[in-house]
Amino acid sequence: MIPVFLIRHVLGTRGVAEMFGIEDSYRYALWAMWPGEAWGQAALILLVWVHGCIGLHFWLEARPWYRRSQWLWYTLAVLIPTLAYAGFAEAGRRSRLVEDGFQNPFTAEQYATIQTVFAASALAYWAVLATAGAVLAGFLIAARFRARFTIAYDNGPTVVAPLGTTVLDVSRTHRIPHASVCGGRSRCSTCRVRVIEGLAQLPPPSETEAQVLRRVGAPANVRLACQLRPTSNLRISTLLPADRGAASGAVADKYLWGVEQEVTILFCDLRGFTRMSEGRLSFDVVFLLNQFLGRMAEAIEDSGGFVDKFMGDGIMAIFGIDGTPAEAAAQGIAAARAMGGVLESLNQSLRDDLGEPLSMGIGLHSGTAILGRIGAAHRNEAFARLTALGETVNIASRLEGETKALGVQAAVSARCMDLSGLLPGEKVSALAVPIRGLSVPIDIFTAVRATDLPAPVA
Ligand code: FES
Repeated sequence: MIPVFLIRHVLGTRGVAEMFGIEDSYRYALWAMWPGEAWGQAALILLVWVHGCIGLHFWLEARPWYRRSQWLWYTLAVLIPTLAYAGFAEAGRRSRLVEDGFQNPFTAEQYATIQTVFAASALAYWAVLATAGAVLAGFLIAARFRARFTIAYDNGPTVVAPLGTTVLDVSRTHRIPHASVCGGRSRCSTCRVRVIEGLAQLPPPSETEAQVLRRVGAPANVRLACQLRPTSNLRISTLLPADRGAASGAVADKYLWGVEQEVTILFCDLRGFTRMSEGRLSFDVVFLLNQFLGRMAEAIEDSGGFVDKFMGDGIMAIFGIDGTPAEAAAQGIAAARAMGGVLESLNQSLRDDLGEPLSMGIGLHSGTAILGRIGAAHRNEAFARLTALGETVNIASRLEGETKALGVQAAVSARCMDLSGLLPGEKVSALAVPIRGLSVPIDIFTAVRATDLPAPVA
């Protein structure tokens, strides 16, 4: 209905200005709308407002600050249109009072013309809509008569589908539970099925499908349901349990089944801790470690990061769970700088206690990773912590390892530095290092002290 109301509004304001030279001022708009058009235009604004609010709500609902202040946004969502309508009603009422002095700007002929234009535009709109509906109905009817195939689900129903449909779409259409974590983008392999009958008649896998199947070491009779478009009848069995959340793709917590996301990963490790703890009381060691890890975690969180885990004397952190990849990279570098400062102040405060100052290595890399709640399938979701997996994580970890060999405190991948928009500066060195598992060396920037990493220009 939005276009119906919108067409009348645009024609009644901009349209009459173009056609008859009538000034489409706010006073004119009020006069023209009140009272006959007022309900329609109020409905238009309400429709748009509600659509916008729903969109914003679903966009922001996962953000903690939004959840905390939801009552405020709900109040504003109701209050703003209510007050606006009250003002509109009062202004509209006044516009029709004689003392307001606004004169009807139309001649009788102009008025008749604009009414004809209104009627014609409404007719044209409904005609376009009816044509689109007829085309859609035509497609649906044609689909019914298209060549078909049947899929027999092992221990399940046998269903019929038109040629050209993927097996996953058939499952979805017939509400047959079928895991599809990546939503059918050939990224996760959770939709894979074993073909029990009809394998020989199937079209061969595309290169993308074959690649995924190779990665999971699938035998020849296993195919990806999201890529497989059968041309003849077949019998299949799904291989992974189809949890309701994964099957529908609509989950309350989007990380429950893993989400591929562009993030920045930071690894930090305390150097020489084993040597340092020799000869110390265990309580003393725990105290020292907690001082280090606690202060570093604070620096990470203050910079906008999320501490994924503590690993002995090391930390892994994720940046970019909320926010853009560029913000994530800048936050990661800011965290590394802050951690460098924290280490210096820790060494100052503990200098009488430490034989030698604490030292550490930090690795930072940006790229796509799978964020998910590992263990959520078997335990309460609340106990399953968010973590990141994938090549980006491995590279960040290896860069942290490289800092030791390079004798530096921080190693930041060029991708992370580029994304952050920061200029490396003179105290930072550029080099390429080979990384185990990668065929080509990776460009990085290193800093002897993490505090030498670039800071945003104020
Ligand atoms: S749904 Fe992910 S690969 Fe098919």
